Amino acid sequence: MVAVSVALLPLDVARDFEAVEAVYRRASDYLALESGLSPAVAARVFFEERPPGGTEAPLKFGVADGDQALAAIGDLAFGYPEAEDAYLGLLLLVPENRDKGLGQAILGEIKRNARERGARRLLLGVLDANRRARAFWEAQGFKLVRTSGPHVFGERQHVVHRFELQLTGAAGDCA
Ligand SMILES: CC(C)(COP(=O)(O)OP(=O)(O)OC[C@H]1O[C@@H](n2cnc3c(N)ncnc32)[C@H](O)[C@@H]1OP(=O)(O)O)[C@@H](O)C(=O)NCCC(=O)NCCS
Repeated sequence: MVAVSVALLPLDVARDFEAVEAVYRRASDYLALESGLSPAVAARVFFEERPPGGTEAPLKFGVADGDQALAAIGDLAFGYPEAEDAYLGLLLLVPENRDKGLGQAILGEIKRNARERGARRLLLGVLDANRRARAFWEAQGFKLVRTSGPHVFGERQHVVHRFELQLTGAAGDCA
């Protein structure tokens, strides 16, 4: 599959809980690595989580997988950690949709959305244990800011690397 364009669909807990739970069920590799939580509990945490002191509700988004299913879910917050920042709390693709350029396409849409809301930086945290994700973010131009932890994630503990991407370049370099 070649991902040309994607839309970040706002998710609603009442309407989309089961679709999000299904993403976690399919992405059991990530859940086992990250928290060890069940798909149902992870879906509840996904909808509840918001960064401390954020200025507006985070965008909980999904990317459609053709029919009723979701190919990916994510969480984009604004005004955290600083007023002009956006923070990507999660980007999770189901295994069948990885390594086909979809993550890169979704990131392009995330950057567009963050810029539209006035963000000048995009930040995220990568678990030390998640080497593939770290390589992906580095390939996308993200730079290491700091390392902290271990922090508790459900039944696991992780050292976390915070990465940032400047969003303030010329319009042409947003690919
Ligand atoms: C990490 C993750 C978001 C990356 O998304 P992805 O879709 O797998 O990554 P992409 O396919 O966009 O990029 C992977 C490679 O494919 C390349 N690629 C881009 N377009 C492509 C296309 N059309 N076809 C094939 N490959 C393509 C990219 O350049 C990239 O190359 P690189 O490895 O040299 O950097 C995804 O694998 C994932 O959800 N993993 C599990 C959860 C996770 O770890 N999330 C991150 C938490 S911090």
